[in-house]
Amino acid sequence: MNEKLTLRRPDDWHLHLRDGAMLAAVAPASARLGRAIIMPNLVPPVVTGADAAAYRDRIRAALPAGATLTPLMTLYLTEATDPADVVAAHRAGIIAAVKLYPAGATTNSASGVRDFDRVRPVLDAMAEAGIPLCVHGEVTDPGIDIFDREAVFIDRVLDPVRRATPGLRVIMEHVTTSDGVDYVSGNDGIGATITTHHLVINRNHLLVGGIRPHYYCLPVAKRESHRLALRRAATSGDPRFFSGTDSAPHPDRAKESACGCAGCFTAPNWLPIVAQVFQDEGALDRLEGFVSLNGAAFYGLPPAEGRITLTRRDQPVSAPTHITAGDETVTVFEPGFPIHWHVEDDA
Ligand code: DOR
Ligand code: ZN
Repeated sequence: MNEKLTLRRPDDWHLHLRDGAMLAAVAPASARLGRAIIMPNLVPPVVTGADAAAYRDRIRAALPAGATLTPLMTLYLTEATDPADVVAAHRAGIIAAVKLYPAGATTNSASGVRDFDRVRPVLDAMAEAGIPLCVHGEVTDPGIDIFDREAVFIDRVLDPVRRATPGLRVIMEHVTTSDGVDYVSGNDGIGATITTHHLVINRNHLLVGGIRPHYYCLPVAKRESHRLALRRAATSGDPRFFSGTDSAPHPDRAKESACGCAGCFTAPNWLPIVAQVFQDEGALDRLEGFVSLNGAAFYGLPPAEGRITLTRRDQPVSAPTHITAGDETVTVFEPGFPIHWHVEDDA
């Protein structure tokens, strides 16, 4: 029997749309969302309100007719960011948040923050103006093992930053560990996005039987106990946890390389996969909170307009394995299990 679920139109609270030919290729996959927080790590990064407005216009131009997506823009925090520009961009409705990348932590993060004291005036102004801070939570200290970088970041950076700027609303982006889940669950004024891929893969999927470049992302997938903690958090109904895909397309050429880029491209199939995860956890009644309600509430927004229906089919639903972007191909995330859920858009 086909099972049906109707939800408020989902949002994506962490999305990479890139620019140019890649933007044109990937934008349609996210076009029927409500809102998406758009990551600013372009080359060069989106650092001023004027940059964000121009990028927002390029995104709008790349969306197909009938798109429902409202892109919510972010600024890339640097040690030279002007607090007045951030506040003015927020007041003008150009940006919804600011993104903190520790310098060198991930793709295009070289202009990120080295000395967190130097961005204190921006963070204080954001707390005052009610602008949320999206955080890539990994230390970059070469002495810290890559699998420990999130847990160490909480102690060395995140907690001190939050204490120094009380009132700052923080989103711990793409949380990957039970340490992150515990920190977010135990505090107020902090939320966390959880990606689709971190609900599905652990580090064995990445490394056992050969290295799988399309499962390489940052923060890197951790051991199974952490994946299970993420699944519990996502399906718990705790409104601090919400879906942010971190869908991060790279050309296959750049992923399947001696030094492959980090990022999983999940935008085309994330919702059917997340529905499958929630079904497997016996939590389909909490799916709408995770994908459509909790994130909006954290950002102080109403739920998106419109509804979608998810139908569970008896036969697995086949999805495209690749898309084309200019001269490049991009591999779509493969969850490793059959997907039975199909999305129908109501209006
Ligand atoms: O896997 C990732 N890819 N993690 C990030 O933090 C950045 C992203 C990208 O931009 O490719
Ligand atoms: Zn990201």
